[in-house]
Amino acid sequence: MKSQSFGNQIVKLSSVDSTNNYTAKLVNNSKISFGTVIMADFQTKGKGQRSLFWNSEKGLNLLFSLYLDTSFLNAENIFSLSKAVALGLRQCVENIIGKQVLIKWPNDILINEKKIAGILIENQWKSNKISSSIIGIGLNVNQLKFPIEYKATSLFNITSKKYNLDSIVSLLCSCLQFSIDQLIQSKINLIDRNYHNSLLNFNKWALYEHEQKVFKGKILEVDNMGLLNLELKKGDYKKFNLKQIKLVK
Ligand code: BTN
Repeated sequence: MKSQSFGNQIVKLSSVDSTNNYTAKLVNNSKISFGTVIMADFQTKGKGQRSLFWNSEKGLNLLFSLYLDTSFLNAENIFSLSKAVALGLRQCVENIIGKQVLIKWPNDILINEKKIAGILIENQWKSNKISSSIIGIGLNVNQLKFPIEYKATSLFNITSKKYNLDSIVSLLCSCLQFSIDQLIQSKINLIDRNYHNSLLNFNKWALYEHEQKVFKGKILEVDNMGLLNLELKKGDYKKFNLKQIKLVK
């Protein structure tokens, strides 16, 4: 499959329920081409992972959805898209702040243990095959304050600089283009290596919570279905999905 041109068309909205939902409606009405970006100043029902809301002050942050042809993806490797998107977003943030940025499973972007960006990918299917994907990204840019319980930060909090959102979108599009092109070229091993090298607590003992029990685990791998493969003790391994487990410390 040929590389797609990201951000060739950009639709800017002032307020919308969710840029992902808006994109999905355009897809259903066949009114959107691959590579289109939908952005909004504000979302009334921004969607996050684990069915949570994504809250963002008006006009300060990037609320972004990118529509992609992902018919090249195998359903068994579905999470490789998430890995590639997380790597593209991580690279974009690293280029801006010039400091190391980590990915927290499955695909949160962290600086100094605080979340600066999140990803919500929604796939469209045609008879058991992925046909396209909506890549939703929320990147905290110019917002100063966040509720403490969010453990969130922004580019402004890190660098004390204000940013122009249009320049960030074009950098983000080129970073995503680079990493998704690697996926199109089937460089899955490279993506895997880079993802694990940027992964918080990879190959380190940390505390996890599952069914109200806290225990030690070491991440051995995040597979291409997105399952977290933990070593619990010598010779004892278990895979968890996103709903089953959370990192405590
Ligand atoms: C997460 O919980 O980490 C994922 C957050 C994804 C938020 C973005 S903001 C733009 C796009 N539209 C949505 O409704 N959600 C995503």
